[in-house]
Amino acid sequence: MAETIVRVESSSSPIALPSRPPDPCALVVFGVTGDLTRRKLVPALHALAQARELPERFALVGTSTSVGAAAELREKLRESTARFSRLQPFDEAAWGGFAGRIDAVQGDFNRPEAYAALRAKLEDAERRHGTGGNRLFYCAVPPAVYPVILRNLKQAGLLRAPGDGPWSRVVIEKPFGRDLASARELNRLLGEVLDEGQIFRIDHYLGKETVQNILVLRFGNSLFEPLWNHKYVDHVQITMAEEIGVEGRGKFYDQTGVLRDMIQSHVLQVLALCAMEPPVSFRADDIRDEKFKVLRALRPVAAGDTVRGRYLGYAREPGVAPGSRTPTYAALKLHVDNWRWQGVPFYIRSGKGLTKRRTEVSIHFSQIPFCLFGSEEVCARIEPNVLTLRIQPDEGIALRFGCKEPGDALSVGTVTMDFSYAASFKRPPGEAYERLLLDAMRGDATLFARRDADEQAWAFATPILESWDADPAPLPEYERGSVGPANADAWIHRDKRRWRPLA
Ligand code: BG6
Repeated sequence: MAETIVRVESSSSPIALPSRPPDPCALVVFGVTGDLTRRKLVPALHALAQARELPERFALVGTSTSVGAAAELREKLRESTARFSRLQPFDEAAWGGFAGRIDAVQGDFNRPEAYAALRAKLEDAERRHGTGGNRLFYCAVPPAVYPVILRNLKQAGLLRAPGDGPWSRVVIEKPFGRDLASARELNRLLGEVLDEGQIFRIDHYLGKETVQNILVLRFGNSLFEPLWNHKYVDHVQITMAEEIGVEGRGKFYDQTGVLRDMIQSHVLQVLALCAMEPPVSFRADDIRDEKFKVLRALRPVAAGDTVRGRYLGYAREPGVAPGSRTPTYAALKLHVDNWRWQGVPFYIRSGKGLTKRRTEVSIHFSQIPFCLFGSEEVCARIEPNVLTLRIQPDEGIALRFGCKEPGDALSVGTVTMDFSYAASFKRPPGEAYERLLLDAMRGDATLFARRDADEQAWAFATPILESWDADPAPLPEYERGSVGPANADAWIHRDKRRWRPLA
């Protein structure tokens, strides 16, 4: 029988926990002419301004070596925001109000002299917009530049120690390092200039509505949690598939690769939320403690438990080094060595240039222990239950279960109960950066990575990177628009399991 979809609507009125309003502040963006600022940060700030969620007393000071005058920067940001904003059609009038808070200061932030000009501009913006001296520094630049910015900010006296007065906070983007040693070095430096409470390590996946919903699904329902363990779960799959290739980021990507770009950060963060124990409270550190324990319990990956590949044509992407062996696809079998998950493999895969953009977690429950329905043919058609958390696109949750087909004969089919965010809440979930920027302005670090977990994720990933570097075998290639390298299918079939379809 063809699979039937049962739609589910939202019903009761939501209970909202009041969140603290964001503090007035000046946001300093290093790398204001870069891709991240144009595509994500400024469209997110603009959407917040339109929704009246941005503090009224707010200023944005953008800096880079090529930024030019404020009017020029505003115009460039208007163009990119009109293109990348999730709020379409673009509202010119709303933009006008927001753009008035943007200022620019040109400078080479590798050089200490640049920080005197930054200070002057910042103090001017603080006076004009009444931001009260709170400063949020955002490093939207390549990770190699973080140390020099941090040292210079400290030396210029622009970072205030935490106390009763105005605050200083720093947001840094992943990847936080390249391996365990460099992550430790970066964290050591961060620790020298800032308190851990002032550091906001952004992993934008944690700001996605559907990622946050993992905890609500698990701990806001009594139905799932009793089944969420090795007694009832056969295996878990986490997929982060992208249709796009490296999109003009060839140089950065070639030095990064899929394990650093997606798996060490986004995939492991999502895995930790799915596998963690109930925290004692919903406070940032209680949740982060439990996530950390999951990362600590990850078993080192065995040599045969990884698959790599790269899409055809990658070697010709601008910025990719001749002879590059950087993978754009990886699949790994992980084990969380604790009581709850003993014997349950977590199959994770991520890749670029694949057939579809899809991020999802699927919990595959065990097969029924005994089939009551007589014929082998009927029993063979009973598929195990699968709970799928669709993180993007078409955000939602689906549960597959067996059902009798109508009619005289005993025939069993599969149906899916499907909850869709867009259909139930009549609006698509907001952008991750909107939530995360507000959280940094209110000083709530729940959705940011903590130092210990970051280093633990590197402790897990570094031996895999080293073993790949030492392996001279050629990388399998896959067609663009396919589901990845052919050996990834054969690899999971060895365990008598199969990937959830991507196409
Ligand atoms: C970023 C990676 O962190 O996440 C990119 O550096 C990737 O390579 C992006 O494309 C995917 O994010 P999203 O939100 O589009 O799934």
